[in-house]
Order: sequence, then C-alpha cells, then structure tokens
Amino acid sequence: MSKIDIVLGTFFGDEGKGKVIDYLATKADVTVRCSGGNNAGHTIQVNGKKYAFHLAPSGILTPGTLAVIGNGVVIDPRVLIEELEVLKNDGYSIDNLRISDKASVIMPYHIEMDKMLEAQRAPGDKIGTTARGIGPCYCDKYERCAIRMEDLIGDTFEEKVRKNVKNKNIIFKANGWDEVDAEAIIAEYQPLGAYLKKYVCDTINLLHDCLEKDMSMLCEGAQATLLDIDFGSYPFVTSSSPSVGGVCTGTGLSAHDIGEVYGVLKAYSSRVGEGPYITEQNNEIGDTIRELGHEYGATTKRPRRCGWLDLVALNYAVKVNGITGLAINHLDTIGKLPRFKLCVAYDYNGERTTNYSTNAKFQETCKPIYEEFEGDFEIGDAKSFEQLPEKAKVYLNRIEELTGVPVKFIGTGAGREELIVR
Ligand code: IMO
Ligand code: MG
Repeated sequence: MSKIDIVLGTFFGDEGKGKVIDYLATKADVTVRCSGGNNAGHTIQVNGKKYAFHLAPSGILTPGTLAVIGNGVVIDPRVLIEELEVLKNDGYSIDNLRISDKASVIMPYHIEMDKMLEAQRAPGDKIGTTARGIGPCYCDKYERCAIRMEDLIGDTFEEKVRKNVKNKNIIFKANGWDEVDAEAIIAEYQPLGAYLKKYVCDTINLLHDCLEKDMSMLCEGAQATLLDIDFGSYPFVTSSSPSVGGVCTGTGLSAHDIGEVYGVLKAYSSRVGEGPYITEQNNEIGDTIRELGHEYGATTKRPRRCGWLDLVALNYAVKVNGITGLAINHLDTIGKLPRFKLCVAYDYNGERTTNYSTNAKFQETCKPIYEEFEGDFEIGDAKSFEQLPEKAKVYLNRIEELTGVPVKFIGTGAGREELIVR
C-alpha cells in the first residue's frame, strides 16, 4: 500500500506551490486536487510554453499520470473546459482526467452572488475575494442544495437549477441586483455536462484502488493555511479547508493514507486581498520585494502585499498540518536585498510569544520581533545545498532550527529546473 504525499501552502497563498508540485507530479502515478476551485492559480512552463492552471491537476501534462479532481473541489465547468481545450490544441491527451461525481459545480448565480456580497461590504469589511463564486458555491454545498457533477451530467440538473435560481432571484431582487435566467443557464450548462461526462466517476474508490496498487500519489494543495476557513484569519479567508484536513474530506482518503506533508513558503511573505498581516512592509521595502519577486496575482493580476517571513505563523502551519518538510521559494529574490529580516517571535503587550493566534485583537496588538540577516548573495548555478552561498545557508539553517522541520526543496529562480532537492 502506498501513501499520498501532500503539498500545502503555509501562509496566504501564492507561495509557489506549483514549482514543487510540478517537480513531484512528473514522478507521481496520480495527482489529485482536493479543495478550492479556480481561485487558485499556478503556472507551469513546459517546452518553453507557459500554462496557467486554475483547476486542472498538474499531472494532466504527464501521459500515464492520472489527474484527479476530488469531491472537495468546486468546479466552474466553463473554466475547466477552457483549460482542457488549450491542452488538447497543444496535442495533449486529456484521457487521464477523472472528476469526482460529488464535486460541486460553480453556477453563474454563485459568481453574481460573490460580486453582489463583495459590492455591499463597507470599505473596511471587504474580503477582496477572487469573484469566482467560490464562497457562495460552498454555501450551497453546506446548505445541501449544491449542484454536483453527478447532477450536471444526469437528469436531476434542470429541476435543481430551476429551484436554486428561484431562491437566488428572491435575494438578487431584494438587493437590486440583476436576476438570472434558469432556462438560459440550463441551455448553456447541459452541453458542458455532456463534454465532461466521460471523465466523471467515483473518485473515492478509484483513489483507494490506486493506493492498493501501490501507485505513487500526490495531492496538490491550493490556497493556504492562513486562508483556511477554520485556521485562517477569519473572515478574511477562503471558504474551504486548504490545510491537511481538507485532503481527507476532499478526497475520501483517510488520515492513515497520508505520507509526507510538504509546506511551501517564500523566503519572504505576501498576501493578496484584505486582512491582517503582521510582518507586512507597507513601504519601500515591500515595494522592492514586489518588484524583485514579480508579486502580482496569477488569477486576478492584483499587486500582492509583501513583507518579511514570519516564523510564528509558519510554526502554526507546521502544527496544524503536521508538516514533515519545507519548500522555500524565492531564495534568489531575498538575496538581492542588502539585508533582510526574519520574524522569530511577537511582542504581545510587552510579553514575548511564539504562539500564533488568528484572533483579530491579537493580530492588531502584536509587534514582530525580528532577527536580521545579510543579503547581497547570488545563487549562481548552485545545484545542491552545499553549493549555496554561506549567507543563504545561514538563513535556511536558522529556519530549520526554529521550526524543527528539514528544508527539502529550495527554489532558486523562476525556471522549472531552478529547484534544489535535498
Ligand atoms: P493559490 O492556490 C492567494 C484569497 C483571496 C481573498 C480570499 C477569499 O494561488 O495560492 P475567495 O475568492 O477564495 O473567496 O477569496 O482568499 N485567495 C487567494 N490568495 N492565492 C490563492 O490561491 C487564493 N485563493 C483565494 O485573495 O483574499
Ligand atoms: Mg494565487
């Protein structure tokens, strides 16, 4: 029996999970998405061409590797089909795709609801969602009125759409928002269901069969721990469980089936959207990091807020997820600064603490306590940890020391091959 290795984000997303996933996916027999939807974005460069995936699991690029979209994912069929068409046009077979019959479908009224709710929030209360309908789709799932993939391809679709649209339109009307048309939605979505039908199956049993056959499996996380609906900085979070628990609920695999848990971070940090961010550098330093690291959203193109790496938050992610190995990206970027900082503790009302809390008052009150490091180093063509510049090693060693977790992957540049594996 094999186990499933997992790649997760440790901060607010955009840690460069795709780089590690891309490396591990080429070695895996099965790659799985378990939560979130097309609010995620990761870019893979293959044969000089860039692919920006929001829904398709990375394994789809490797012939013979199963690419599974698990039951915990919310699927916008228009977006998924667009991604598949790009791949097909470039000569990729997509026969290795499998979609859970239990995954929820993002409908046009979810996207409208997302936009309406965000528009109604007062300036200080805005979440800064990706406006992809993620939150409202998960709301329907928990309200037990979601349209699942099995509905989209089956004969329950029309009735469910009409019922949902009737209810949503009452809300839209009361809020002066444009109503949606059930019949137009049915006419547009039924062909999408027909397109996807042959990929839809019971992925829960499929994944267990794969484990039994000792196939190597990789779960590619989307979003990140501090965006988790339970463990993140609520309400400035996404509506799913991007931390380790979401792997079990989003695939049907059990806790016993989990192998390595890789936590991805950057040598600095970033956040897109609203919400507290203790080590944010809302100043020239943050601007410099943004430009050096090209910190603009893959999904929404928004400029990302940037700051120093926060080990208090990282250790929280290590605890919550049981992280067994760290993947640190943008080591080359931090080396371009003459000096840089690492947050090792917080000052909370005059007391030093290393316990993280997402409590709003705590977040507001805490002041970061930093250690400083020397930058101005170049990675050059270092292919191993040993070949890294001394100053870079000092930084990585300190992170290992304060987390107790080994650094297994080091991102040394934007290119696919610029990754040191330890
Ligand atoms: P990847 O997988 C960064 C953020 C949004 C917003 C909040 C809620 O690329 O790391 P949502 O549309 O999910 O309801 O928005 O969550 N967010 C992300 N930020 N990377 C992501 O994914 C994100 N997915 C959601 O910016 O603040
Ligand atoms: Mg992103």
